[in-house]
Amino acid sequence: MGLAVAISNMKGGTGKTTTAMNLGAGLARLGQRVLLVDADPQSNLSAGLGIDVQNLGASMYEVLSDRDTSIKDVLVTRDGLDIAPSHINMVAVEIELSTRIGRERTLTKALEPVRRDYDFILIDCPPSLGLITINALAAADSVLIPIQGQYYALYGVSQIMQTIDIVRTELNRKLDVLGVILTQVTPTRLAKEVIEDVRKYFGDKVFNTMIHQNIRLAEAPAHGTHIFGYDPICRGAEDYASLASEVMERCRNA
Ligand SMILES: Nc1ncnc2c1ncn2[C@@H]1O[C@H](COP(=O)(O)OP(=O)(O)OP(=O)(O)O)[C@@H](O)[C@H]1O
Ligand SMILES: [Mg+2]
Repeated sequence: MGLAVAISNMKGGTGKTTTAMNLGAGLARLGQRVLLVDADPQSNLSAGLGIDVQNLGASMYEVLSDRDTSIKDVLVTRDGLDIAPSHINMVAVEIELSTRIGRERTLTKALEPVRRDYDFILIDCPPSLGLITINALAAADSVLIPIQGQYYALYGVSQIMQTIDIVRTELNRKLDVLGVILTQVTPTRLAKEVIEDVRKYFGDKVFNTMIHQNIRLAEAPAHGTHIFGYDPICRGAEDYASLASEVMERCRNA
């Protein structure tokens, strides 16, 4: 049974999509069968992996809003990864699901037919606390929280922790925190302070690996690929390869 991991932080721009794409690719390089689920109407993950999101036949929108569309009908393969792409019309899912019975478990149900086909299912969440995020947390075994290793990193973190608590009580008792990954880390004194704060707050949940700021990570999606396809020997590739190994290790020990 694949491990479903929601990559979530309600704060925008913390590296959720970059982590979904490159951790997914890192795990695939270690021989894991990986499915990436783009659950964000912004569709950055799909577009970043070279999918023409304007001209998709069907996407996660149909999977979540139309009971007759299976996730298997929308899967696309790119660079050794299976992707369930998103589309901008996913914004409507929030409204369409809101009146449906079982609205919080729509994604859980949608993933059922493919859970055995993968070792990891990574769900890229939007930076908001709506029904899509709740669906992702309800469907997931674990949450991976990317936190920007600069600015006021802990800002917004209490929101994700409270949400995880509520989802645990109401929907998904097994949900745990797989880990916190510091991203966009710079060699500054401020970053050092932020990292200390995050480690104080989350203790050993923080991965030893840190993702440093690396322009190659920002460039790769513009070339429609992940970091291992774009520049496999840069710092960003090294960092995400290291994160993939650490995730595997945590899963083995769990
Ligand atoms: N380690 C890094 N080094 C340099 N640029 C990065 C790094 N990680 C992410 N970025 C860039 O920072 C921006 C935000 O990253 P990303 O899109 O992954 O965040 P996000 O949390 O998914 O954002 P959103 O909340 O909008 O979905 C992107 O332009 C991305 O290319
Ligand atoms: Mg994103």
